[in-house]
Amino acid sequence: MTEFRRFDLSSGAFRANSHAVYRELRDAAPVCPVMLPSKQQLYLVTRYDDVMTLVKDNRRFVKQPENAGLRSRTNIPWLPRMFRAMGSNMLYVDQPDHTRLRNLVHKAFTPRMVESMRTRIETLADELLDRAEASGTFDLLEDYALPIPMTVIAEMLGVPEKDRARFRSLSEKIISVDTNNGNLSMVLPIMRFAIYLRDLYRDRRRNPKDDLLTALVEAEAEGERLDEDELLAMGLLLLIAGHETTVNLITNGTLALIENPEQMQLLHDQPELTRTAVEELLRYYSPIEIATDRYVAVEDCELGGEPLPKGALVMAVLGSANRDERRFENPDTLDITRDPNPHVAFGQGIHYCVGAPLARLEGEIAMRALVQRLPDIHLAVAPDSLRYRKSLFLRGLEKLPVTAGATEKSH
Ligand code: HEM
Repeated sequence: MTEFRRFDLSSGAFRANSHAVYRELRDAAPVCPVMLPSKQQLYLVTRYDDVMTLVKDNRRFVKQPENAGLRSRTNIPWLPRMFRAMGSNMLYVDQPDHTRLRNLVHKAFTPRMVESMRTRIETLADELLDRAEASGTFDLLEDYALPIPMTVIAEMLGVPEKDRARFRSLSEKIISVDTNNGNLSMVLPIMRFAIYLRDLYRDRRRNPKDDLLTALVEAEAEGERLDEDELLAMGLLLLIAGHETTVNLITNGTLALIENPEQMQLLHDQPELTRTAVEELLRYYSPIEIATDRYVAVEDCELGGEPLPKGALVMAVLGSANRDERRFENPDTLDITRDPNPHVAFGQGIHYCVGAPLARLEGEIAMRALVQRLPDIHLAVAPDSLRYRKSLFLRGLEKLPVTAGATEKSH
C-alpha cells in the first residue's frame, strides 16, 4: 500500500522551512506520495531531471483532468457558470486550445514589446524609492515590490487607477488558497473578479482603447478565436499572474541580498551584474515554488522510478529543482555571478511563462534601482519574525519591513 506523507504545503510555516524538507525528499523520496490536510492525495516531484520531464512531457502529464480520465474541472454543477469559466485559462488547458489561447497574447509580451515599457518602469521605481527613502523605515513589499508589477500589468490591460486597490484585494484572496477547505475559499472572490472584468469588457466594446483588454474583446468579436468564458479567464490569469509573481521576485530577492551582504555589495559595485543576479534570485528563492496541477494521462506511468497511477495528481517543485545538488554546484549558496544558470523558475515546455520577458525587465530595473540607491538597506525586524503567505504555489512574504539609510544596523 502506498504510504502518504502528510504536509500542509500551503501553510506559511511549511514554506518557512520548505527547502530543508525538499533536500530530504530529493535524497530519500524524489517522487513522494503526499496527503494534504484536505485529504487530497498527490505526488511531489523534487529532483531537477524529474521536474523537467514532468513539465515538458505533455503527452503523459496533462492539465485538464478529463484528459486523464477524471471529472472535468469545469463540470461541477453546483458552482456558478462564471466561476467554472475561470477554469478555462491557458494555464489549465491542453493543446490544441492552449496553443490558440497563448497565441492571442504571446505578442504582447515579447522582449521587443516589453522593452517599450522600460522608461515607465524606471520612473515608477525611482518615484517609489524617493518616497521610501524619505520615510526611512518602510515595507519593501507594499511600498516598492508590489506597486511596480501591479501598475505595469494594470496599465497594459487597461484597469483604471481608481480600481487598483479592489483588484489587489480580490487577487490576494484568490491566491491564498486554503488546502484545508479545497478551493471553496476562492469561489466568492473569483465571482466578484469575474463580474468586475465583465463590466470592463463591456466598456471596451463601447469605447475601444489602446490596451490589451480591447485587443481581447476584438479577438472575441471575430468569433472562433476566443469565447466569452475564455475572455474572462484570460483577463483574470493575466492580471493575477502579472503581479503576484514578480512582487515575490523583488521581495524575496531583496531578502536574499540582505541575508548575503557581500553579494549586495558586489551588485552595488558592479551594476552590470544585474542580469545574472536576477536569474540567481529567481533560482535561489523561486517565486513560484510549486508549479500548477498536472495529471497522469496514461496507464503504466513511471517517473523517477516511482510507478504512478493514471489520474494521479503530480506536482513539480520548481523551487526544489532549482536547489538540486545533482544539477547546481553549491545550490544553497547565493552567487550573483552564476552563469550559465539553467533554473526552471519560469517552468518549461508549452506552459513556459509567457510573461518571462516582462518579469525579467521589471526585476532588473527594480533590483538595480534599489541596490544602487539603498545599498545599506537592512531588516527593521528580527529575521525570525518574517511570515510567509498561505499559498500552495507561491513563495511570498506577508511583508518585509526594512530600514534604509545610515542608521545603526540592528542585526
Ligand atoms: C518573476 C515573475 C514570474 C514567475 C517566477 C513566473 C513563473 C511562471 C511559471 C513557473 C509558469 C508555468 C507554471 C506551470 O507550468 O505550472 C508561468 C506561466 C505563466 N505566466 Fe508567469 N511568472 C512570472 C511573471 C509573469 C508575468 C509578469 C506575467 C504577465 C502576464 C505572467 C504570465 C504567465 C502566464 C499567462 C502563464 C501561463 C502560460 C501557459 O500556460 O502557456 N507571468 N509563470
